[in-house]
Amino acid sequence: SAPTVVVAIDGPAGSGKSSVSKQAALKLGYAYLDTGAAYRALAWMLLDRGLDAENPAVVIESLAEFDFTIGTEPEGYFVKVGPDVVTVAIREPWVTSEVRLVARLPEVRAHLTEMFRSIIRNTSKPGIVVEGRDITTVVAPDATARILLTASEEARMGRRSAELVDQSAAVVGEQLRSRDRADSRVVDFMNAADGVTTVDSTELDFDQTVSAVVEVVHLASLRVFHGQHPQR
Ligand code: CDP
Ligand code: CDP
Repeated sequence: SAPTVVVAIDGPAGSGKSSVSKQAALKLGYAYLDTGAAYRALAWMLLDRGLDAENPAVVIESLAEFDFTIGTEPEGYFVKVGPDVVTVAIREPWVTSEVRLVARLPEVRAHLTEMFRSIIRNTSKPGIVVEGRDITTVVAPDATARILLTASEEARMGRRSAELVDQSAAVVGEQLRSRDRADSRVVDFMNAADGVTTVDSTELDFDQTVSAVVEVVHLASLRVFHGQHPQR
């Protein structure tokens, strides 16, 4: 059978990665993988079990019992840790603020990266859209299409505040900036790596952003079809 088309999408918080990737996957008939959900789910597990997420040894040890399941149908998204459905819980602020403690550890990143590659290998769809911070550079550097989804800080803050009715824009803004700063120390997702196409959504609405992403995928697939190495 034809090899799976892999679409790698990275970008900062609020750039539209999750919503745009999901919709692009739906349009293309591809699977969808939210890698941030795995980092969030691991942080959730540590908090749920009362384990010390500040202690690297404790976090690394917990990987052995990290039983993570994720729905990769763009319309059937769910996240489980063991038997617990944590789809909503992993978005809670008390989880979000702890994710950096697990994401900073190379052992955690290596473990989750292997998990993601196995999910990509086992997809039954003709393609998969994989979204996160290090997909274009570490998880799938040889992806068919590699995209950095950006938007001005103002636009990203605005979109996030619109989602959270019970928090002030200032608080949301500061949390987002502080998370981006911490994340940037671990992986560079603010600058496009060689061969990565930047899609700036600042002036685009949601549908226009999805179309821009789908267009990059079509162009990249054509390039592969004509036997050229994808963008490198
Ligand atoms: O959707 P949002 O931008 O808020 O974040 P997310 O994609 O759910 O990711 C949550 C956190 O997981 C990020 O702030 C990163 O610390 C971490 N992450 C990562 O380190 N590498 C990835 N490939 C994806 C997420
Ligand atoms: O996953 P990430 O944090 O990058 O962003 P998201 O949660 O997918 O998107 C944040 C919000 O921005 C969502 O409510 C999207 O519908 C919205 N959005 C938008 O208003 N305009 C765009 N061009 C892209 C996303």
